[in-house]
Amino acid sequence: MNKERKLIIAGNWKMNKTAAEALDLVRGLKLELANVKEVDIVVCPPFTALGAVSRDILDSNIRLGAQNMSENNVGAFTGEIAAGMLKEFSVRYVILGHSERRQYQKESDALISKKAQAVHAASLKPIVCVGETLAEREGGQTEKVLETQLRGSLAGLSKDQMVETIVAYEPVWAIGTGKTASTGQAELAHAFIRGVLAKMFDETIARRVRIQYGGSVKPSNARELMSQPDVDGALVGGASLEVRSFADIIRNSI
Ligand code: PGA
Repeated sequence: MNKERKLIIAGNWKMNKTAAEALDLVRGLKLELANVKEVDIVVCPPFTALGAVSRDILDSNIRLGAQNMSENNVGAFTGEIAAGMLKEFSVRYVILGHSERRQYQKESDALISKKAQAVHAASLKPIVCVGETLAEREGGQTEKVLETQLRGSLAGLSKDQMVETIVAYEPVWAIGTGKTASTGQAELAHAFIRGVLAKMFDETIARRVRIQYGGSVKPSNARELMSQPDVDGALVGGASLEVRSFADIIRNSI
């Protein structure tokens, strides 16, 4: 597939896989995907499996991501993980503001922007998630919600930092539900997001930022989604937990 931006497909394993199970999964992926050069491949295991996975992918084309990070560097923050700790495991990407964290941990756009700045300060790359709920879509609020989340979560980033930021459009109603946004709905939202980035930064920056789609991505819909001009990759939950389905999503996207 000839894309303006290099595709980036990331597996968000959420709270799944012990370190031993994670190792099995990543070993399978390494074998299946060894020859893939056209896509940036990222896996985001839980913190407790980062060490095992990190050692195993050293010589591979698979990169490591984390699912969250503290906005603070060090200190009395029980249960939190800092950038320096992630860097020990050669983590390159950090998912921020996933809708599950927005919902269950009450993460706000303001907090996500602080975290994004901390991620960049450590020379890591944030994957900043935005997306509307079903009620917001049905109420005609999709664009307003996306613009508010983007302006809040990306506040304070420089143009150089924005280019190194990945945005993930994840309609909340499509996450883990089996309901995927239609290719038309996805492309419309992605083009809208790129337009907001152009207003916030400039056209050139907006054209360089990669925007992933997330929400029930599977082997059968990956090709059509990735063929949309403003869809530059995927953030995959459920289907990233098995070698076959994640590898097929990547192969079908090329
Ligand atoms: P899903 O999750 O692929 O299971 O819908 C996507 C995500 O939450 O990142």
